[in-house]
Amino acid sequence: MAKNSSLAFADRAVAEAPTSYGKLLDWVKEVAELTEPDSVYWVDGSQEEYDRLAGELVEAGTFVKLAEDKFPNSYAAFSDPADVARVEDRTFICSEKEEDAGFTNNWMDPSEMKGILKDTFAGSMHGRTMYVIPFVMGHLEADDPKFGVEITDSAYVVNSMRIMARIGTDVLKKMEETEAFFVPALHSVGAPLEEGEADVAWPCNETKWIVHFPEERSIWSYGSGYGGNALLGKKCYALRIASVMARDEGWLAEHMLILKLTNPEGKSYTISGAFPSACGKTNLALIEPTIEGWKAETLGDDITWIRPGKDGEFRVVNPEAGYFGVAPGTGWGTNPNAMKAIAQGNSIFTNVALTDDGGVWWEGMTDEVPAHLTDWRGNEWTPESGTPAAHPNSRFCTPIDQTEMLADEYHEPNGVKLDAILFGGRRKTTIPLVTESFDWEDGIFKGATLSSETTAAAVGAVGVVRRDLMAMLPFIGYDAGDYLEHWVKVSGEVDQAKLPKIYLVNWFRRNRDGGFAWPGFGENSRVLKWVVERLEGTADATETPVGFVPTADSLDLSGLELSAADLEDALRVDAEEWKDEVASIEEWFARFGASLPASIAGQLDGLRQRVNG
Ligand code: GTP
Ligand code: MN
Ligand code: MN
Repeated sequence: MAKNSSLAFADRAVAEAPTSYGKLLDWVKEVAELTEPDSVYWVDGSQEEYDRLAGELVEAGTFVKLAEDKFPNSYAAFSDPADVARVEDRTFICSEKEEDAGFTNNWMDPSEMKGILKDTFAGSMHGRTMYVIPFVMGHLEADDPKFGVEITDSAYVVNSMRIMARIGTDVLKKMEETEAFFVPALHSVGAPLEEGEADVAWPCNETKWIVHFPEERSIWSYGSGYGGNALLGKKCYALRIASVMARDEGWLAEHMLILKLTNPEGKSYTISGAFPSACGKTNLALIEPTIEGWKAETLGDDITWIRPGKDGEFRVVNPEAGYFGVAPGTGWGTNPNAMKAIAQGNSIFTNVALTDDGGVWWEGMTDEVPAHLTDWRGNEWTPESGTPAAHPNSRFCTPIDQTEMLADEYHEPNGVKLDAILFGGRRKTTIPLVTESFDWEDGIFKGATLSSETTAAAVGAVGVVRRDLMAMLPFIGYDAGDYLEHWVKVSGEVDQAKLPKIYLVNWFRRNRDGGFAWPGFGENSRVLKWVVERLEGTADATETPVGFVPTADSLDLSGLELSAADLEDALRVDAEEWKDEVASIEEWFARFGASLPASIAGQLDGLRQRVNG
């Protein structure tokens, strides 16, 4: 009985759809029959719709509306305490062959996984609305727009997706007109409501599945309402699925910021940078340069698609439309450009603290700590409480076009020429402030061995070096060795003279007294200046066994109080440290097995010889 009526319902949902695109209608019908929602709603992406859904979320207790004079048109949401982050152990790459998922991913046989998921999603939207969100990652006007459709039973996801991606009617129209391929991305919080059952503010399920089928280019996400698990355009599509598309189509999908830098002569350069989480992408993307006459503008803070252009160059584009940034540590002192964007409103905050006058607060937002707050779990909070007021992984979700320093090139549908790539991690020792690679392949080696130390905030031992290749460890949608091979091969798609130069940076090296050797933040503009002058061929460098490092007087240190000892500690290449590093890289490379490209293994041999020679 129930099945028959839901079938009729699914037919009706399709008949009332604002599109005649058969492939999409078939999928929507299939999902409606499987998940059995109360109703189907096609998202148009309008402001009116956003406001209406936000009102419903306030009504449901999911959203708290913030004071209009503080954060206009903005809301705070509070998750289930067990649903606060990406769940890497529940994330799967279900390629046909296990070896194609590689050692960095969880894998299960795709047909077995499909069986589990179909059982899990059956009836999972009972009592809820099923929202259909047409979206495009990157620009609708791009030569090769990358479409997706997210089906979700969460209005929080709909409104967050409207900030993070281009969604709605225009996208649907173009998809239909061009009969475009789209990534079907299915999401359910996994909390069906039975007849008369009351909802909770943050529905989710203890069981979580974040599953990717790379050959089919599809995504199934169950049980979590949180960011990276639920906003499927971001990590799931724009990194994991897109990295597979990129492998097959000859480009790169990377975990990188994009920054435009203009020198006093008015010449501009585009620099992208891959740093693991909490290693400063958003900070560098929104940098306030401290050197006279240099201007920084941002294009993106988290994801970069790198594609060969028509003139033999690599071009970069930010596929996203918003920030989903870690809130704690983002403050008027450390990142005023982010704060200015947030203060314009139109934002959704998740798991931050509430101030008594209808605003939000998180650790590090202001120097002065409020005397009283409501913490992210809804409890009274004072500075004596001894617990963080905002969850350490609390987030701000803010439209990128509210950034004052947004570069015009952000709006270029096919991106802008890339001049340099930075790889960076958090290392107390060994890695100099900045090192220029000998060549493209050495640059890939530097990315392949990128590493960062675990901090006190993370579970486990502190200061342990964890390798995070190209800052993509949790995001590569296929075998990690094949991914490195693809980096080697993709350079063949462009003019060798136009290949970006690759740099390894480390803002976190310690000096002989245990403090930071380099002041970091805005002062990193001095390193960027050296990078640009290397591109122009004007800055000096010392050739070391690990690459080209600035000479003491090639860095612009005017107006900076930095002792000669600190400078030396920041730039030093220490043979003993590098012998340990080589041994550590050998262990890391052993994990790749046979899929480590010979050319990258050869780079390690070269480094070993230079370090020992
Ligand atoms: P995700 O968004 O999680 O991928 O991280 P992210 O790479 O955007 O990191 P973010 O910019 O949020 O950096 C956060 C941490 O890095 C904070 O603890 C900052 O204080 C620290 N940080 C950023 N830049 C610098 C710097 O130049 N020097 C030092 N010492 N710390 C920095
Ligand atoms: Mn960030
Ligand atoms: Mn990230």
